[in-house]
Amino acid sequence: MGALRSRIVGVGAFLPERVLTNDELARQVDTTDAWIVERTGIRQRHIVSESQRTSDLAIGAAERALAAAGLSGRDLDLIVLATATPDNTFPATATRVQAALGMTRGAAFDVQAVCSGFLYAISVADNFIKAGQVRTALVIGAETFSRILDWNDRGTCVLFGDGAGAVVLRAEEGRGDNSDYGILSTHLHSDGRHYNLLHVDGGPSSTQTVGHLRMEGREVFRHAVVNLASVVQEALDANGFKPTDLDWIVPHQANRRIIEGTARKLGLGLDKVVISVDRHANTSAASVPLALAEAVGDGRIRPGQLVLLEAMGGGFTWGAALVRF
Ligand code: UT7
Repeated sequence: MGALRSRIVGVGAFLPERVLTNDELARQVDTTDAWIVERTGIRQRHIVSESQRTSDLAIGAAERALAAAGLSGRDLDLIVLATATPDNTFPATATRVQAALGMTRGAAFDVQAVCSGFLYAISVADNFIKAGQVRTALVIGAETFSRILDWNDRGTCVLFGDGAGAVVLRAEEGRGDNSDYGILSTHLHSDGRHYNLLHVDGGPSSTQTVGHLRMEGREVFRHAVVNLASVVQEALDANGFKPTDLDWIVPHQANRRIIEGTARKLGLGLDKVVISVDRHANTSAASVPLALAEAVGDGRIRPGQLVLLEAMGGGFTWGAALVRF
């Protein structure tokens, strides 16, 4: 018997309809389209309507991922949902999604690792599958960061957007070497000493308010390029690959300059990098699955290709996953 692997059998994304452009933002805060594009690569972001919740976006992405996999909610054993902007403090947003998908067995829960959330969630689900505890899992990254932004702080409010992405994982027998299909390995890190560089200044146990996102952008930027290049190299080394073996990198979409800096450190051209930050901005835990769904949907990512997912966020947290599609 070989090793159990998690195969990605369906990918889906969901974006709220409303698009907020840089020019619209420039009418609300002291900024310009030129500054935002030059410093971040962001041109627009999607923003939820007043009645839309994180769970609505998550359900939209989940339905599309399940349809792509030819499965329904009844086939699922597990939902792991990554979010830093849950509908409510509790219960987990994942249980809302579970009910909406008609899944009445198995388990559904949230994980919290901010922008690295999707990497944490896919790693958790992959380990359940590798341990033989579940066969079919849904992994979602869903966020409504527009709800926690200080819309008077130009240093942060221009950077984020709302959205959701999801993947369906299925257990499959592999050989246990790097020629397998599915998730070859996942790598997670955190360093809580940097808590204050990117955090929300509220919460149930501190202020009893939701609070607003606060960030020391330049410091986060500096750590991001170093940590991301290091975790990508770790994932490659663990599987005996070189950067040039990769067909695609699907990075966290925080800032085009971070994405370019990481690719440069690895010696990879941007033609191997999936970029959606220009249209989605930083959607935190949703950013990697949103970009992945786009690249799978338009045929860039094809079966058999080697794809690396990576992200870094508040905590700090960072992680990577190496996948053969
Ligand atoms: O997803 C989690 C990970 N998050 C990230 O990866 C974000 C990492 N950080 C970044 O992406 C960048 O640091 C930012 C985009 C946040 C900022 O870019 P920067 O090149 O590091 O700019 P800065 O913070 O050093 O600010 C440069 C100048 C400042 O003015 P002074 O002090 O030089 O006069 C800012 O006040 O730009 C000013 N500034 C703005 N100007 C126009 C800051 N925000 C804006 C703005 N419009 N929106």
